[in-house]
Amino acid sequence: MTIPFAAQIARLPASTPFVGPEELERRRGAPFRLRVGANESAFGQSPTGMAAMQAALAESAWYADPTSHDLRHALAARLGVAADEMVVDAGIDTLLGLTVRLFCDVGTPVVTSLGAYPTFNYHVNGYGAALHTVPYKGFFEDTEALLEKAHEVGARLVYLANPDNPMGTCHDAATVQALIDGLPEDCLLVLDEAYVEFAPPGVAAAIDTSNPRVLRFRTFSKAYGMAGQRVGYCVAHREIINAFEKIRNHFDLNRVAQAGATASVNDDAFLTRVKAEVEAARQSVYALADRLGLYAEPSFTNFVALDVGSTERGQALLERLAEHGVFMRMPGVAPLNRCVRVGLSQPKEMAEVCETIASLVPELP
Ligand SMILES: Cc1ncc(COP(=O)(O)O)c(C=O)c1O
Repeated sequence: MTIPFAAQIARLPASTPFVGPEELERRRGAPFRLRVGANESAFGQSPTGMAAMQAALAESAWYADPTSHDLRHALAARLGVAADEMVVDAGIDTLLGLTVRLFCDVGTPVVTSLGAYPTFNYHVNGYGAALHTVPYKGFFEDTEALLEKAHEVGARLVYLANPDNPMGTCHDAATVQALIDGLPEDCLLVLDEAYVEFAPPGVAAAIDTSNPRVLRFRTFSKAYGMAGQRVGYCVAHREIINAFEKIRNHFDLNRVAQAGATASVNDDAFLTRVKAEVEAARQSVYALADRLGLYAEPSFTNFVALDVGSTERGQALLERLAEHGVFMRMPGVAPLNRCVRVGLSQPKEMAEVCETIASLVPELP
């Protein structure tokens, strides 16, 4: 029997969107000793957030507030926007899917960088929109090329992660603003700021919710250390937020996550500590690079791209690291795939990761 999938679903090739470290552990038959490959946070959670999550666990019989009222109001006050200029959902990944659904029909052109964060592409393909890519310029997303391509193909959406995954680079606010100002009519910028808390002031372009052509995404998965809880949000023009309200799944955000995020938002002492620890860990990777005569790209995120010279050497290093119980990943596309992505961690783990890399690099092909 032929199963009557919707036409767009029937067209999709079989795919596995993401092979997580747990699956890799099952395949190798042993757990990883060090998990520094998925851009998670190794720096804990806000103590006030943790206490709120523990208390909320006991209320698991109840649905969460479907409007995330308290969380939206806390975030809105922090960012200086109105609470109805924000939608909260189960991570940026969920919101990216909703965004593509809101703005793309089958065949609608969208633009991203070749090798950029792949979940956007995953949703674009899922909804049958037409993905156009431009290469990175060195280790940076090329905002001018994105703009040029957007004009060329008549794009509805342009995706930019700032700071970027997988390279950890970022553009300054003026460069992002020039991209925003140059967008074609009927084209919106999907501005993914998952790592913005790690970047210095001046990286995030000013939030202007009066401009209906910018959707800005942030998350509790990175600096706030809550990836497993799934909390992300989008700040945008009220009309766009109203459109999300037409289609989003109202109970996506679970009660524990909602309580934890709400109690963490303004824990600046925690964030300050995390940022300092991330900076210290970056320095240890830079020092490792110096010691090995390799290039480490200055990072504005919680990982560092370490250039090991070629894809072959990068793949060999990842395989050897896995044999030593270290889970790490690398970008998949040239010119980025001469790097491995070193996730930042606590000093003891970081020292182990660096020592393991240092012992393996001399043996690489
Ligand atoms: C650029 C970027 N955006 C979004 C995400 C995922 O965010 P969330 O956990 O909120 O879905 C990641 C995670 O690695 C990322 O690197």
